[in-house]
Amino acid sequence: MVSKNNSWVLITGASSGFGEEFAHQYAGQGHSLVLVARRMDRLQTLAEALRKQYPIDVVVEQVDLSEVAAVIQLHERLRERDIVIDILINNAGHGLQSPFLDAKLDAVLAMVQLDVASLTAVTHIFAQDMRKQGRGKILLVASLLAYQGVQNFAVYSAAKAYVLRLGEALHRELKREGITVTTLCPGMSDTGFAAAAQQKITPALKLLMMQPAPVVAAGIRALQAGRISVVPGWANKASVILMWASPRWLHQAIFSHIMNA
Ligand SMILES: NC(=O)c1ccc[n+]([C@@H]2O[C@H](COP(=O)([O-])OP(=O)(O)OC[C@H]3O[C@@H](n4cnc5c(N)ncnc54)[C@H](OP(=O)(O)O)[C@@H]3O)[C@@H](O)[C@H]2O)c1
Repeated sequence: MVSKNNSWVLITGASSGFGEEFAHQYAGQGHSLVLVARRMDRLQTLAEALRKQYPIDVVVEQVDLSEVAAVIQLHERLRERDIVIDILINNAGHGLQSPFLDAKLDAVLAMVQLDVASLTAVTHIFAQDMRKQGRGKILLVASLLAYQGVQNFAVYSAAKAYVLRLGEALHRELKREGITVTTLCPGMSDTGFAAAAQQKITPALKLLMMQPAPVVAAGIRALQAGRISVVPGWANKASVILMWASPRWLHQAIFSHIMNA
């Protein structure tokens, strides 16, 4: 063990985008890291770079999180190494832009499995250890689309609405166990997400696009401050205000245009 800071952060989906950025920012704070994703080459390259730059321990775990059994095995492997997670960044997820009826059912259900079932399993399993310790922090990565159903993102926005509702309920429920639960709701950001989701980047989305660093910094700050949820960036915050202040048919039409036009 290299790190003097005994606090471990587990980051799912650490091989690119927000997950990779979370790894950099938590490493900069001196936390040791468990990095999880499927692309082992990317995880190893990231781990080597972080070990060189910071005096921390970095463990990489190649896991397909869409299998709940693999999540249970990951937890067991970490327990065998006496690694107890203090901060869980539940970030892995993917989207799919497609008319509902044109999408392959397998692809739709795989997204539900990762974005909903796996996120629930990871939270349930690692929060048990946090309850035993009487402390812990969990960040759930949802989306701005959690606030409304968006045309051609029907299942993705429904999955992210689940994440936001789960996070809101657990925020209160787990507080009494000493566990902070915060939900991060990013808008369009410059990660591998759009390519993986076969998403079209419309001119409006290009204008609204955020870089991963400020999104991740906002998530870490909100978790540290014990907030229930956070929407990073002024334009995304303005969108949420518009959703509260306007009838559903109107903001749905506006968002549908922004996301698809
Ligand atoms: N970027 C945006 O505009 C945006 C906006 C709102 C919310 N989000 C949310 O932000 C989160 C992170 O996405 P991102 O934007 O950083 O996109 P990304 O660059 O595509 O990263 C997604 C990460 O999830 C991992 N992943 C995907 N399927 C997995 C599986 N079955 N098992 C394990 N890991 C898996 C990927 O790693 P491997 O492929 O190596 O497994 C990758 O590390 C997602 O939950 C996404 O819904 C993104």
